[in-house]
Amino acid sequence: MFYIGIDLGTSALKMLLVDEKGEIIRTASEEYPLFFPHNGWSEQNPEDWYSAAEKCLSQVLKGIDAYLVKGIGIGGQMHGLVVLDKNDNVIRPAILWNDGRTDKQVEYLNNVIGKDKLSQYTANIAFAGFTAPKIIWMKENEPEKFEKIEKIMLPKDYLVYRLTGEHTCDYSDASGMLLLDVKNKCWSEEMLEICGISKNQLPDLYESYDIVGKVKKEFADRFGLSDVSVAAGAGDNAAAAVGTGTVGEGKCNISLGTSGTIFISSERFGDDRNNALHSFAHADGNFHLMGCMLSAASCNKWFMDDILNDENYQGIQSRISDEKLGRNNIYFLPYLMGERSPINDVDARGTFIGLTMNSKREDMLQAVFEGVAFAIRDSFEKAKELGIKIEASNICGGGAKSALWQKIMANVLGIRLDTVKTEQGPGYGAAILAMVGCGAYGSVSEACAELVEISSSVYPDAELSAMYDEKYKNFSKVYPALKNVFKEIKEEIK
Ligand code: XUL
Repeated sequence: MFYIGIDLGTSALKMLLVDEKGEIIRTASEEYPLFFPHNGWSEQNPEDWYSAAEKCLSQVLKGIDAYLVKGIGIGGQMHGLVVLDKNDNVIRPAILWNDGRTDKQVEYLNNVIGKDKLSQYTANIAFAGFTAPKIIWMKENEPEKFEKIEKIMLPKDYLVYRLTGEHTCDYSDASGMLLLDVKNKCWSEEMLEICGISKNQLPDLYESYDIVGKVKKEFADRFGLSDVSVAAGAGDNAAAAVGTGTVGEGKCNISLGTSGTIFISSERFGDDRNNALHSFAHADGNFHLMGCMLSAASCNKWFMDDILNDENYQGIQSRISDEKLGRNNIYFLPYLMGERSPINDVDARGTFIGLTMNSKREDMLQAVFEGVAFAIRDSFEKAKELGIKIEASNICGGGAKSALWQKIMANVLGIRLDTVKTEQGPGYGAAILAMVGCGAYGSVSEACAELVEISSSVYPDAELSAMYDEKYKNFSKVYPALKNVFKEIKEEIK
């Protein structure tokens, strides 16, 4: 039997074909464009996701007996607003998780409705990327389009819908809409009223490993598939956590993808009284806390591709010797798309500080790696303030492929970082969800115990960690010093 795991990412869709022992048989990946129609806006065409899925499916099934595929699971970029009309046409491009257009709506939700009420209704406050503020934005800015909305869905749920015809969502992804009462796992009546929408526009809710339908006949026939079940799937961070075995109580996963996240699993519901971390449901049926920075590995990509115009990522990294670590005097704020956790500021911007005539391109790249690590530490510190002890973490995502970045991260956080053997981010977790849904394993935790194995670990060095503690103190002074400047120059850089 085979299972398919899909990671519907921001830059590409990645697909894995996995056998019942969890061995990865094939992988495929298709990129699609990301549109920034205005500074701070971020959109994609749902049709691009679907055609990428079709292309990847043809590739992973080449030479394989497609009849043996039993299940599909999808992990997807969270929070994106996808709206369909009564004919199932997409009304406008999807507004993504890193889109910052909703500052007014976030201000209204957090300060007029109030953070206390939002926390009571949903366990979270409003952030610009969340789905509810985008729905209100559409109501206020595109009223004719808003009137046409028949169905509201998240990115991976659009794919599930195209595959099965079912309008569904899982609790982990639904948590990021600011429409879900996370603690009680149901839609919040109050939030629906605030957004001016009704329950029948929203998907049916499931656990991530529940099977929500079968692949439609015409689709199955086209690819030679037979009876393929589709699991509800999960938000990409929850799926990545499953893929790295971050399930059950008190485990941690750091993902360095386009976004950067720190994900702490918990068997009990809990929220962050300071509202810095998100309180969401997990794909294993439990809960998690998460801090999300909007630009992580994307800062490296931006610096290498757009600024240095250098394809040789490894070449420049090799110039950052061990002696340079903990001694860099350049600091970088990684707020290229504004920032979510923990500062919640759509106006914040990327910044280098501390440049001199001696500064080299590799010192700036080092500052980029360190800036992302310090920004992850900001959320890590918020978790510590809640009394959470994190002694080690898994690490995954494109950025984690750099040994240098892993080393910087382990020393900035002062913890051991583990990489798992089948490091495929959300796709592997999504395949596990499909296996559990199809009955190959009794639960997500059972599947993880069986399938996920640590392959390498990076340990912090006490002396280097102490040096980074000092550097982190300096980094922590930069944003507060610039916060008002970002507000003042907001119109110029919009
Ligand atoms: C999480 C978040 C991002 C996206 C990226 O809250 O916004 O990690 O899910 O894919």
